[in-house]
Amino acid sequence: MTRSLEGSSVLVTGADGFIGSHLVERLQAEGAHVRALCVYNSNGSHGWLDGIDDRSGIEFMLGDVRDPGLIHAAAAGVETIFHLAALIAIPYSYAAPRSYVETNVLGTVNVLEAARSHGTERMINTSTSEVYGTPDSIPIKVDHALKGQSPYSASKIAADKMCESYAKSFELPVVTLRPFNTFGPRQSMRAVIPVILAQLLSGAETVQLGSVTPQRDFTFVSDTVDGFVKMAEADVEPADVIQLGTGTAVSIGELFEACCEATGVSATVELDPKRVRPAASEVDVLLSDPSQAMARLGWKPERTLTEGLAELAEWMRAHPVADATHYAT
Ligand SMILES: NC(=O)c1ccc[n+]([C@@H]2O[C@H](COP(=O)([O-])OP(=O)(O)OC[C@H]3O[C@@H](n4cnc5c(N)ncnc54)[C@H](O)[C@@H]3O)[C@@H](O)[C@H]2O)c1
Repeated sequence: MTRSLEGSSVLVTGADGFIGSHLVERLQAEGAHVRALCVYNSNGSHGWLDGIDDRSGIEFMLGDVRDPGLIHAAAAGVETIFHLAALIAIPYSYAAPRSYVETNVLGTVNVLEAARSHGTERMINTSTSEVYGTPDSIPIKVDHALKGQSPYSASKIAADKMCESYAKSFELPVVTLRPFNTFGPRQSMRAVIPVILAQLLSGAETVQLGSVTPQRDFTFVSDTVDGFVKMAEADVEPADVIQLGTGTAVSIGELFEACCEATGVSATVELDPKRVRPAASEVDVLLSDPSQAMARLGWKPERTLTEGLAELAEWMRAHPVADATHYAT
């Protein structure tokens, strides 16, 4: 039996971020009452949600997933929890691994405990394709072994496993959505596509990048968000894990060429050693198997990489950054 989000109450953690802010707008359009948990800050900002005009149906809340009492209050009275809050940058996870455990692992445990004590109907945990590390075979099947090749990856594996354990131990209706790389407006300027586009749009003749050989499977953010909605509405079982990806991978070198085409700018790549991951930490290829999401959720990506890059380049032209080279490292 499928569920409908229309008229229901939902909590989104990480609502102030890239994917979370798009998800909040989509849930609003679906007719849900959205409690948007944005990370606490002293100037009262709601991150990317500050820029939206229509705030109807959105209840804003500031807080921190590391605080169990606050998360218990945030989860009161909602039928569905979309848990996206996390520290996500791999380079910063080398510098601050304990922060990743506190936010990504203990933060997820706090959300699980809150869902358990409130009897929440469904919790959607957000995983990442980084949990696979460099795969033994491609396309990567959902049950491929997990490898902690960075502290970020290890923290997300631990969070996924805590969710699995709560489903098995307490019959908590928690499911995990595992997106491969997502891109689109509002993404961190430290992610590879915005880094390339920002430098191209600033007129740089050489673009500073890390290794150009790793391959990634890129999904446009509206498609990723559609996967979250389908995961909330579909007939799924506790502990289910579903991947979201296009089933096509491009190398960072090929991605750079596609960005040049999308912007109409030509440039050359210059290796920035500061962006190169330690050899054993770099994940060579992440390529999804999209058949599972199609079969289980009826999900398939609508936007091609070319279309998505064109839309993002247009958005970035309208939202220029002051110093594109600042983000290149
Ligand atoms: N962007 C991608 O390519 C991608 C791919 C796979 C999975 N994911 C996952 O999707 C989720 C959202 O990522 P994103 O790309 O939108 O990144 P993001 O950094 O824009 O979003 C993460 C959000 O978490 C919030 N946050 C961080 N620490 C917090 C804390 N202690 N308490 C409360 N909120 C906190 C941040 O304020 C931010 O809004 C993450 O769980 C990430 O692991 C992202």
